[in-house]
Amino acid sequence: ADVEKGSYAHFMLKEIYQQPKCIGQTFVGKIANLDAIHIDIPNPMRQLVFVACGTSHHASMVGRYLVEQHAQIQVIPEYASEFIYRTCLLGPSDLVIAVSQSGETADTREALHTAIRAGAKTAGIVNVVGSQIARMAGQGMYLHAGPEIGVASTKAFTCQVTAMILLAAFLSKDPAFRADVIRTLPMVPPAMDQLLHNGHMHATIDRIVDAFKGATNALYLGRGMDYPVALEGALKLKEISYIHAEGYPAGEMKHGPIALVDTHMPVFFVLSRDAVLFPKVLINMEEVRTRGGRIITITDVADPLPTAVERVSEFLIRVPYIAPYTSPLLKVIPLQLISYRIAVAKGLNPDRPRNLAKSVTVE
Ligand code: G6P
Repeated sequence: ADVEKGSYAHFMLKEIYQQPKCIGQTFVGKIANLDAIHIDIPNPMRQLVFVACGTSHHASMVGRYLVEQHAQIQVIPEYASEFIYRTCLLGPSDLVIAVSQSGETADTREALHTAIRAGAKTAGIVNVVGSQIARMAGQGMYLHAGPEIGVASTKAFTCQVTAMILLAAFLSKDPAFRADVIRTLPMVPPAMDQLLHNGHMHATIDRIVDAFKGATNALYLGRGMDYPVALEGALKLKEISYIHAEGYPAGEMKHGPIALVDTHMPVFFVLSRDAVLFPKVLINMEEVRTRGGRIITITDVADPLPTAVERVSEFLIRVPYIAPYTSPLLKVIPLQLISYRIAVAKGLNPDRPRNLAKSVTVE
């Protein structure tokens, strides 16, 4: 059934809607017993390096925040294609995890090769069972997302982020965090399902699509874990809508991207309720607004929403809040839907974007 569109117009849309079920498949066997995750790790571990491409790299970036914060291990998310040709300084006290939906991406496979040759411990976070990368890595976690047909990755991303949460819990020595993950992960699929069927969100997306389907550029900004979510939002828009989009850390905006802001520029802000980051990002939003930029805010900030956020946001989408570390899973949903809907509004087929392949088996 996973390889048929059923009642959905496109595989991408079907896969967006499958996400509550798929992330459940990723965590179901693990949360009953985190020790069911069998990854042999170096002891002591010097650092954890993720090697990945595209969307899988964005999930790895989320993983960095989670593992550093909750397991106090230095994490480096690397683009596989860059990692291969740099001087490799890894050794037996490093763990290298290849993250790949297909398990067949040539750059990621070669990066894993490099790590194996350097004597590092390796593992995989992979969707396709028995794929090259899964076999080479020798250990790790499968996503159990089912086949992903749409070229633009959606359910693989949220399943990878779920795997990152599980990995952080597995590596963490903090029993409170481990217990919290076990308690909160099952709350995500129903919240995601509710969001996917939220009429208010869809009505806002209709207005966003109308306003920006003719745009030629867009900016996506966020800080902390919202930064990789912004990158993923921008990637989705580029891939299937052919609108030039840049994802940037919100704090870097003043060092360049702000020069692009005029009264036509859509600027997507992924806004966290984090007490430290919230006021900082709000300042960036005000700077964009002052220059006439058109702000679309995706946030899980608590009620009552500060009026300042309402004032600067032309469009506002609120997603449910469960825990700080689950927030990418919910914030990415409207971004996926907006890209999908803009592509369709432009008469494009989101399942067959020009020049892209589902898995890139050449370097
Ligand atoms: C291609 C796909 C992307 C994907 C990337 C990495 O570029 O179009 O959607 O994120 O490869 O693929 P992987 O299978 O290794 O996750």
